[in-house]
Amino acid sequence: MAKPEFAERGTWNVERNPRAILTDAGRVLVITGAGISAESGVPTFRGPAGLWKDFRLEDLATPEAFERDPRLVWEWYGWRRERVSTCTPNPGHLALARWILGRSGVTLVTQNVDGLHEAAARRVDPGNPARAIPVRLHGSIGWVRCTRCTFKAEDASPVDATSIDTLPHCPSCAAMLRPDVVWFGESLPVDALLRAEQASRSASACLVVGTAGVVYPAAGFALAVARRGKPLIVVDPGETAFDSAAAVKLVGNAGKVLPALLG
Ligand code: OAD
Repeated sequence: MAKPEFAERGTWNVERNPRAILTDAGRVLVITGAGISAESGVPTFRGPAGLWKDFRLEDLATPEAFERDPRLVWEWYGWRRERVSTCTPNPGHLALARWILGRSGVTLVTQNVDGLHEAAARRVDPGNPARAIPVRLHGSIGWVRCTRCTFKAEDASPVDATSIDTLPHCPSCAAMLRPDVVWFGESLPVDALLRAEQASRSASACLVVGTAGVVYPAAGFALAVARRGKPLIVVDPGETAFDSAAAVKLVGNAGKVLPALLG
């Protein structure tokens, strides 16, 4: 197979042909991060244009921050929610959804909270999107949950963060609601963790797309596959923490590389 334009590092050869690796693998773990949504207009976290350049995660994405200043945290999540609401899946999300729905044995695990994998799955197969709906390690920005009781609901409506009183409150117990996302220092949802762990243990290959690889346990699930001697394929235009463990690094944007790789 000819070496495509995006395989700039010279790692594409007969033994390490990423398309063949994925076709031959019985079970594939796919892990995505903010980079896959970049071409949809969702900002990434790290790098020169990343959110953590302008905002301090300690002020916005920890339980302590929410306790200290829920209005500020809600204002930030409201802004991100609004931004995500205008975004649609890009060719990377769609190629991935099409590929997953066209075969068996793939588990898609995402760190993203933007809902774009879900939208892509529904667009590709409105009647039966389930297999391309991701395991969400970090929750969803379009859901809320109560800080006191078990109330949880889908809610992507605009947030009025004028004051504490205008913030979303629980219809069941009147306590304050919070975004249903995982903040730094919090445990991941047990269900998602178990499914991702299981997929990491049984995968015969792993495809990592658009994640710097510095946040655990997500990064660990991919590296565990490589440690078992199974191939790791990395799609990213920049350097990542996975690069030295990768069998193949495809340097490029997900919206261009994934349709070529999986189409
Ligand atoms: P990062 O912002 O750390 O990394 C994004 C990665 O995407 C980088 O490696 C970029 O080079 C790459 N990238 C940029 N544009 C791309 C494109 N068009 N196609 C493919 N890749 C591209 O985001 P994550 O690794 O996802 O957690 O961050 C992990 C977690 O840290 C997030 O889920 C969030 C964050 O703080 C929480 O908020 C708990």
